[in-house]
Amino acid sequence: MDTVSFTKMEDGTKEEYAFLKPLYVQCREGIPEMLLGLLKRMQGDRLGYQIDRYQHSLQTATRAERDGSDEETIVCALLHDIGDVLAPDNHSQVAAAILQPYIIS
Ligand SMILES: [Fe+2]
Repeated sequence: MDTVSFTKMEDGTKEEYAFLKPLYVQCREGIPEMLLGLLKRMQGDRLGYQIDRYQHSLQTATRAERDGSDEETIVCALLHDIGDVLAPDNHSQVAAAILQPYIIS
């Protein structure tokens, strides 16, 4: 099977969804690089601030690390503004929605 035959989700068969499942898993493998790409896109423009948003993100993660935070918190601190690239007006909600499935605690 190269593609599913259905055009409406409710018409998909069990076999077609079984075919799709590993493709979704494969698709998720690139997410860390994609998130780091969003982080790096915040380099450069300081928007009137003394540092750019990339530096701000590194600064935030560094402060979380120095505070003794766990790895998950440090990663969330690092990526807390990645939504700014896609949705400046509600970037914190976008970042939270992206990270939430990967947060254990
Ligand atoms: Fe921030």
